[in-house]
Amino acid sequence: MKMNEQLEKSEELLVKKEASEISATEENVLSSVEAGMDMPTEFMPLKATNPNIVEELIRQYRLNEAKPNQNLTTFCTTQMEPQATRLITEALNTNAIDKSEYPKTAAIEDNCVAMIGHMWNIPADEKFRDDFIGTSTVGSSEGCMLGGLAMLFTWKHRAQKAGLDIDDLHTHRPNLIIDSGYQVVWEKFCTYWGIEMRQVDLKHDELSMDVDKAMSMIDENTIGVVGIQGITYTGAVDDIKLLDEKLTVYNETHKDLPVHIHVDAAYCGFFAPFVDGFEPWDFRLKNVYSINVSGHKYGMVYPGVGWVVWRKNNPDFLPEEMRFAVAYLGKSVDSIAINFSHSGAQIVGQYYNLVRFGVQGFRAIMNNVRKVSEKLSKAIADTGYFSVLTDGSKLPIITWEMAKGVHTKWSLYDLQDQLLMHGWQVPAYPLPKDRQDEIVQRIVVRPAMSMTIADDFIADFHSAIEELNKKRLFD
Ligand SMILES: Cc1ncc(COP(=O)(O)O)c(C=O)c1O
Repeated sequence: MKMNEQLEKSEELLVKKEASEISATEENVLSSVEAGMDMPTEFMPLKATNPNIVEELIRQYRLNEAKPNQNLTTFCTTQMEPQATRLITEALNTNAIDKSEYPKTAAIEDNCVAMIGHMWNIPADEKFRDDFIGTSTVGSSEGCMLGGLAMLFTWKHRAQKAGLDIDDLHTHRPNLIIDSGYQVVWEKFCTYWGIEMRQVDLKHDELSMDVDKAMSMIDENTIGVVGIQGITYTGAVDDIKLLDEKLTVYNETHKDLPVHIHVDAAYCGFFAPFVDGFEPWDFRLKNVYSINVSGHKYGMVYPGVGWVVWRKNNPDFLPEEMRFAVAYLGKSVDSIAINFSHSGAQIVGQYYNLVRFGVQGFRAIMNNVRKVSEKLSKAIADTGYFSVLTDGSKLPIITWEMAKGVHTKWSLYDLQDQLLMHGWQVPAYPLPKDRQDEIVQRIVVRPAMSMTIADDFIADFHSAIEELNKKRLFD
């Protein structure tokens, strides 16, 4: 080989080597150019970036978020079985709304609605589609909106038939009755649709709806009453059985404008059917027309799924104008959803849980949840600093406030911050309307919280109190 050729060759090799070094360096996240730069926020970067680097940088970007299993604020699922996660991942690229293209996903959705309807005591001989109907939703919020809209439209039909001029909004503005511990979705619903929200104060001792007050608020413009089976802020339940009894009497004398119940069972809908201690609240009650639940709460699916079911045993359960026809296997079926495209993954995840755990599995899980709740609540009460308002013996929500006569230099907000230093998210907040001067703190006990995790929490809870007591001594 001539000298020149040799030189050229080694230069060529050097270039190749440099090139391979560069790419090897770029493969390494820490030595990459991007690791030394801020993450893009306002504008898309001009050039593409190595996928492994992007993956790791985004992982790092999310580093200081809550560890999901230590997030005791959320009702949402933080842990599913690997088999479920695999099924969900495989179904991510499906679109649940395309019922013809994904007929099995559509069938799975129907299976879930059927099982959930029966779980809420629709009699075994009543069939999905013939006797009851429902849909998956993105969460309870969409379920509440649909339940609320059905009440609005059916009221309009009844009111028109009864001769009310529903266009005269001064005299006939529709109203909805709900306890003041409602979740924000109901405020959205009323705002979006121009409905007057009539808030019933919480009963002082029970932290739930004062049913007599609710009844006194009803008039000809009432589209319905929402019973909350699991109040977000207090962990109590409305007495829907009593509400149903009173409405039955009311409806006997108001045959042209009867009032119905929608039950918002966002988190309790998958809990109450499996544990003791709940009065009938579901389709066993005559005036309960519809119920919503979040699949991603005690239905134990990752966030992104809810359900709403209407029972057809009454003439105006779900108005025609809310049922849009979509093609499905050469037929046409109802589409009731507000959202259009969304993945079928969560629906598949829900079906997995229903089939995998069955009634006995759900029962065992929810009873463990209750045991953990009771232990936590006792540990919190035993500190002597707090009075427990809801103790987890019914719903797995523990709320407490500072005990009367106990003087500390720290508040529940300080305790919230101190617990966060141990990684636990435990929110402190004021109670709803009329009791907003009372600050409470709350733990949501979810299936992912085993006794071991609860024991760790209790140890950290004691440490946090000790730390706060000491901290203030030096102030
Ligand atoms: C009683 C109640 N209704 C509705 C919702 C909204 O549920 P989602 O987050 O599933 O939309 C919640 C959420 O916590 C809730 O507690």
